[in-house]
Amino acid sequence: MKKHITDFKIVKKKVYNATYFALTLQHPSTLPEIEAGQFVEVEIPGNKHVMLRRPISIHDVDSEKSQLTLLVQVVGKGTKTLSQMEEGETLNLVYPLGRGFSQEGKEVLLVGGGAGIAPMLHLSKCLSAKGTHCTILLGGRSATMIPVQEEFRPYGDVYFATEDGSLGEKGLVTQHSVFGAEYDHIYTCGPTPMMKAVARHAMEKGIECEVSLENMMACGVGACLCCVVDSDEGHKCVCKDGPVFNAKRLTNWIKK
Ligand SMILES: Cc1cc2nc3c(=O)[nH]c(=O)nc-3n(C[C@H](O)[C@H](O)[C@H](O)COP(=O)(O)OP(=O)(O)OC[C@H]3O[C@@H](n4cnc5c(N)ncnc54)[C@H](O)[C@@H]3O)c2cc1C
Ligand code: FES
Repeated sequence: MKKHITDFKIVKKKVYNATYFALTLQHPSTLPEIEAGQFVEVEIPGNKHVMLRRPISIHDVDSEKSQLTLLVQVVGKGTKTLSQMEEGETLNLVYPLGRGFSQEGKEVLLVGGGAGIAPMLHLSKCLSAKGTHCTILLGGRSATMIPVQEEFRPYGDVYFATEDGSLGEKGLVTQHSVFGAEYDHIYTCGPTPMMKAVARHAMEKGIECEVSLENMMACGVGACLCCVVDSDEGHKCVCKDGPVFNAKRLTNWIKK
């Protein structure tokens, strides 16, 4: 898939809380096709301490308006700078990067944790448009760590798990009552221990499972090798060969 470098205009900024915000970005002409699970490399403007672009998942796509939305968690210098940007300003993106989710299955479970919720919205939209029934399970330490909630409702049955019990069932996503139901495919993105637990469960039950890894990245295009994962077929670049992998290819990673 061809990669583009484009200046987008920020047309909407939504601040959920001190940690999470979303930026809706306007393409200058026509947005190319984007697979659910692909990501962008964002240039961080005006901060001389942040030289490298930052990888951020594509949270939502509006093809008619040629807009895409990024959901960002503030964790350090780059994401802090992004959080200070305002509507009308410009962001330069390299996109669309990586391989997305297969979108297979008829009865599927989507599990998102923390910032890993981001790619699940576009995925749930694409799957429901194909007639797939989605159970969407979103987890976080507390309700504020699950900033996007209602947006998912048109695309499936939505459930929440929080460690403090402030939203949905109390506990981890893997302890939620819908987690153990019958599915033919599971898609997950979030903290590594969560994805490993989800993948282990899927493999034990013989369910197809795809995980979206969020390894540290630099170039984003397979040149620097700083993002490699120890897959069953050797080292793979998460930015180019992933970020989405079938869990069956990652048994070494799951065991670690
Ligand atoms: C494919 C991919 C998709 C991603 N999608 C999103 C998304 O949709 N929304 C979002 O908020 N974040 C996403 N991330 C994570 C995001 O890229 C990092 O949080 C960001 O690069 C941190 O930049 P920073 O300058 O703010 O932090 P830094 O100052 O660079 O680091 C601050 C802290 O964050 C840690 N950190 C940095 N990068 C990562 C990472 N990739 N994973 C875990 N910890 C990290 C560092 O170890 C450090 O402790 C994604 C990462 C990848 C690889
Ligand atoms: S980030 Fe450079 S090879 Fe993946």
